[in-house]
Formats: sequence, C-alpha cells, structure tokens
Amino acid sequence: MRDSGETMVDEATLVAAAREARERAVATYSKFKVGAALETEDGLVITGCNVENSTYGLTVCAERVAVLKAVSEGHRAFRRIAVVADTKDPTPPCGPCRQILWEFCGDIEVILANLTDDKGHHQLKDLFPLPFDARLLG
Ligand code: THU
Repeated sequence: MRDSGETMVDEATLVAAAREARERAVATYSKFKVGAALETEDGLVITGCNVENSTYGLTVCAERVAVLKAVSEGHRAFRRIAVVADTKDPTPPCGPCRQILWEFCGDIEVILANLTDDKGHHQLKDLFPLPFDARLLG
C-alpha cells in the first residue's frame, strides 16, 4: 500500500492495515490473532500477522513478520508500527520482538490498538530501555 503522494500514512490507515493483517493470522493453537503494520520512512505500509507452528516454539509474532518482510524487501528506515489484538488492554510487543524492532527500526513509535480503539502510543526506547545493540560490539 502506498500513500497518495504524502510522505506519511495517517494513523487510522496504519491501524486499519494492522487490523486487516490480523485477519490473516495463523493462530491455530493459541487462537490469539495479532496484526502489525509497519510504516517505512517513505510512506509504505508493510504488514505482518502471527504465524503459529505445531512445535509451538517456531511461532513467529506479527511484529517480527512485518519487520523481516520489510527488511527482506530492501526497506531499512521506519517510522511507526501499529499492533492490533482483540484485547481490552493493549497488547504490547513481546521481548524478542522489541529486540528485533530496536535492531531494525530504532526508537520508532509503537501504536497499540484493539479492534475498535487506539489504546496507546509509546516510543520503543521506553518499552525497551537499556538495549543490547551493535554499539556494544565496537
Ligand atoms: N503474539 C504476537 O504476534 N505479537 C505480540 O505482540 C504478542 C504475541 C502472538 C504469538 C502467538 O502466536 C500468540 O500471539 C499468543 O502468544
């Protein structure tokens, strides 16, 4: 999805893309469907959904699917990610997803929403303080 000449996708559009992606979740075991929509710096929206596996441990979260899809398609600069689940309280990214988001997106805005409402806006640095990253590798 590319916006129409604007450099920024509006938030409602980004959240709608995450809700739509959630519908494609393969949540066979948990039944907990999650959608994510990652906005690139040039206004492209790359979506992801969780994809579960019968071994359970090979399940991949929606956020990681979105980031790895985007990176594999050559995108390396990102603005925001919207995460949607059908929960009353916001569903924040899990620990491993925070590490992956930090690695590829840096301090992006994380928008949490459910099926009807936006539930919060956070900077990744607040969700993931004191990260391990490439700076420590010298
Ligand atoms: N899950 C995500 O996709 N993203 C999150 O932020 C939290 C958890 C998925 C993993 C698993 O498929 C299901 O939700 C239940 O944990």
